[in-house]
Amino acid sequence: MTENANADHDTIQRTRDSLGRCIECGTFVDRFYELFTAASPKVGELFRGTDFERQKRMLKDSLYGMLVAAGTTQGPAHDELERLAEFHRNIGVTHDMFTVWLNALIAAAREHDTHFTDELENDWRASLSGPIELMAPTP
Ligand code: HEM
Repeated sequence: MTENANADHDTIQRTRDSLGRCIECGTFVDRFYELFTAASPKVGELFRGTDFERQKRMLKDSLYGMLVAAGTTQGPAHDELERLAEFHRNIGVTHDMFTVWLNALIAAAREHDTHFTDELENDWRASLSGPIELMAPTP
């Protein structure tokens, strides 16, 4: 598999460790959706009628999937990202909503990972920028 130039292996590993500490808390994904849906009325609107128990499980899986895909430009994790990209395009998710998404995720991580630092925030951003670029439609 080809390495993605956006993030090196160590950066992705530090982000994965941080995500692991966040998930262990048990309230990370709840807090993320609280921040994300409150951040923009358009985002809240898209999630009207969502089964959040299912949604939270799927997000947890897809976050790890994104970190696997972050180091690659092909393979199953990459294919899943392409599928998710199409899904989100079809329901009208816009480019700016992905910025809101990442900021809410990082705010939740800062609250939940006791080892969080500004450097670690840079790791999260570097690790997720490639997958987000792939998922977000052109502005
Ligand atoms: C890289 C960032 C994101 C990831 C990893 C992600 C992940 C997911 C996943 C795994 C699903 C379930 C897909 C399925 O049912 O097959 C989903 C659904 C959804 N996502 Fe995202 N998402 C992201 C960004 C966003 C953004 C920016 C929005 C903007 C509002 C959004 C809104 C939604 C909505 C509305 C659904 C459908 C919920 C329902 O079933 O009612 N997502 N997302």
